[in-house]
Amino acid sequence: MSEAPENSRQPAARARLHLATMGCQMNRYDSSRLAGYLGGLGFVPVDDPWQADVILLNTCSVRHRAEHKVYSYLGQFRELKRRRPEVVLGVGGCVAQQLGEELLRKLPHLDLVFGPGALDRVPELIEDAAKGRRRALTPEQTGFGGIGPCLPARPGLKALVTVMQGCDNFCTYCVVPYVRGRERSRPAGEVLEEVAALAEAGVREVTLLGQNVNSYRDPGGGGGFAWLLERVAEVKGLWRIRFATSHPKDLSRELMEALAGIDKVMEELHLPAQAGSDRVLKAMNRRYSRARYLELVEELRSLVPDVGLGGDLIVGFPGESEDDFRQTLSLVEEVRYDYLYSFKYSDRPFAKASRMAGKLDEPVKARRLRELQELQNRISLELHRAQVGRRVQVLVEGPAKRGEGLMTGRSRAGQAVNFPGGEDLAGRLVEVEITEGRVNSLMGRVVQPPRGGQS
Ligand code: 5AD
Ligand code: SF4
Repeated sequence: MSEAPENSRQPAARARLHLATMGCQMNRYDSSRLAGYLGGLGFVPVDDPWQADVILLNTCSVRHRAEHKVYSYLGQFRELKRRRPEVVLGVGGCVAQQLGEELLRKLPHLDLVFGPGALDRVPELIEDAAKGRRRALTPEQTGFGGIGPCLPARPGLKALVTVMQGCDNFCTYCVVPYVRGRERSRPAGEVLEEVAALAEAGVREVTLLGQNVNSYRDPGGGGGFAWLLERVAEVKGLWRIRFATSHPKDLSRELMEALAGIDKVMEELHLPAQAGSDRVLKAMNRRYSRARYLELVEELRSLVPDVGLGGDLIVGFPGESEDDFRQTLSLVEEVRYDYLYSFKYSDRPFAKASRMAGKLDEPVKARRLRELQELQNRISLELHRAQVGRRVQVLVEGPAKRGEGLMTGRSRAGQAVNFPGGEDLAGRLVEVEITEGRVNSLMGRVVQPPRGGQS
């Protein structure tokens, strides 16, 4: 773990910190680093915001209605601030980056605003807020927030590790290139240092994150992403590696071979198609065709037959006709995704599509989304039922949220598997025979006693 930078200041007391996160994986990752960083400075994490001295919300603008959610989350603390004006209330992340000073103007009880590149300045902002100085700090994105490799406050079994920031692809619906800045890879040495520290702290599975991991290149002179996967797989104590996201235009044969050939790399790939019609793909500036996408899926499955394939699809992009939408449905029928994230198109600030003609009405988008989700649910159920009788390796995470006496974990392909078992199995690898397929999960029973691991 890195030391706090020299210019950081100590909080006056052991302030209680509540850090809430809304949004994407990248945001959750930033939050876990920020919590670790502030923890190192003496802040004590608390789960209940009403018990905190400092309440921070880290947000993401990729998801729909992010801005609205920020206002409603922060709004609930208006009365608290009236009663306890010494409480510091702040907001960070992409929404904060976009709205900056405007947030301070609209919310008089808000003290501070920070962009994702200003994580290292948060202690200073908190200190200023405590002196009554309200500030918004949203500098141009350059680095990784300046706090270097940092362990989450409470490392669990799984952790996220960023390998890249930003994006240069400018898909026309997307805000990421504007709020996260240009694409930059993190030095492999730093990534490996962080993964090794996580494994040392008991983490067994890492997910390497980037908007487009396929274009990773070690600025320290090492190789590309497949090379990085091999290095990460050498970390002792680490059992499993996943990664996201892959842009189809950059998915290489080399990466597919890494998926097939490196034992610690799980057979799962998130490969967003975004649309099934060439016309819409072009308007989205995705730079691949439907045929090319299907070719990639075929190549991948020939190399990694049991791969768990995930997708993202947007319905109701400006100008999307009923026929375009039917092509999205038929893409799903052809690919048969193991899991799918589907979204109704909505305008994002700066993004080119927000200025395009042919916006669709809400009910049309809602109906298309429903149809797409119904189709995917049917396919998920079929795929899951076809798994009955098979044996899968599961990393046991803990008790299932629902179901008395059930434990839960993920298979190598990324499916949620629930099965009867004791809590002593948590943190172990077990072999489970699938007994039932449901829409969102598999049920099973343990057929092989736990092994400590495979490192
Ligand atoms: N409208 C709807 N969905 C979007 N996504 C990104 N921008 C938008 C938008 N403007 C979806 C994409 C992306 C996922 C993270 O969010 O499918 O892959
Ligand atoms: Fe956004 Fe496209 Fe970059 Fe993904 S690849 S972050 S959708 S611009």
